[in-house]
Amino acid sequence: MEIEGQLDNLRITVVAEDSVQYESSYLGQHGISLLLEAGREGDVKRVLVDVAQNPDALLENMVKMAISPASIDAIVLTHCHYDHTRGLAKVLGEIGKKNFPVIAHPDIFRLNFTTDPFLRYVGVMDGDSREDIEAAGGMLYLTRDPMQIMPGLMTTGEVARVTNFEEVDMSLFTVIEGEIKSDTMLDDISVAAHVKEKGIVVVTGCGHAGIVNILRHIRSLKGEQKIHGIIGGFHLIEASETRILKTVQGLKEFEPDWIAAGHCTGFRTQVELFNTFKDRFSPLCTGMVIDI
Ligand SMILES: [Fe+2]
Ligand SMILES: [Fe+2]
Repeated sequence: MEIEGQLDNLRITVVAEDSVQYESSYLGQHGISLLLEAGREGDVKRVLVDVAQNPDALLENMVKMAISPASIDAIVLTHCHYDHTRGLAKVLGEIGKKNFPVIAHPDIFRLNFTTDPFLRYVGVMDGDSREDIEAAGGMLYLTRDPMQIMPGLMTTGEVARVTNFEEVDMSLFTVIEGEIKSDTMLDDISVAAHVKEKGIVVVTGCGHAGIVNILRHIRSLKGEQKIHGIIGGFHLIEASETRILKTVQGLKEFEPDWIAAGHCTGFRTQVELFNTFKDRFSPLCTGMVIDI
């Protein structure tokens, strides 16, 4: 499957993120939520990628940013983790629509837990179950496949794991038929936009599939298109030095015009990205706006 069509322009607003800039009045939280405003043929569609974990802070930021929840047309959940999905039903209530598209992987409601430092469930929380989402007006589109949201904008679907250095290195587990298995986060999906005369823009949640895997996967869907920009979390906060260096090297090969990474990317990786990409790199922060 390919990205069919192109967007005329794309605005990305960081509605929620872990950091807040000097003198900013936005509310920070551990989590991420990015609003994509996709322009095509005189029309604009708004897609929210993740809802972070504190819907009150998210909604307050939206008021400050003059984003009306009712103007949102669809939500993509990049994976199950609570810092991307918590409060979804409340946000859907504010959006106030019926049959509102919520796109995610079919495994998103599974048991997903860690035991470090103690047994703890980290997946979709109480209050945001399938039933809660539907009762709040959401219509779930659960698929492993790439899914077109509009011409020029799609989800990646399940990402093939092809690199030898991007294993999911968190101690995450699930239970399958009574057996505890390590959870490889197959539900980790990203969003790809194709913007006219610019190229592909890649939007990740945590990038648990590995950011280089994600880029290669998008290339396999779309061919040798220019990768224009990459924004989101790369989940390298606990990664080894070797993995960080290999990842940054892997990103370099795609020659992106810009990278904006934060949330779970980790300070050491941000430093390495800055040293490599200089002005083409920016750390994410709440309220950042990128116009493409
Ligand atoms: Fe996260
Ligand atoms: Fe995550």
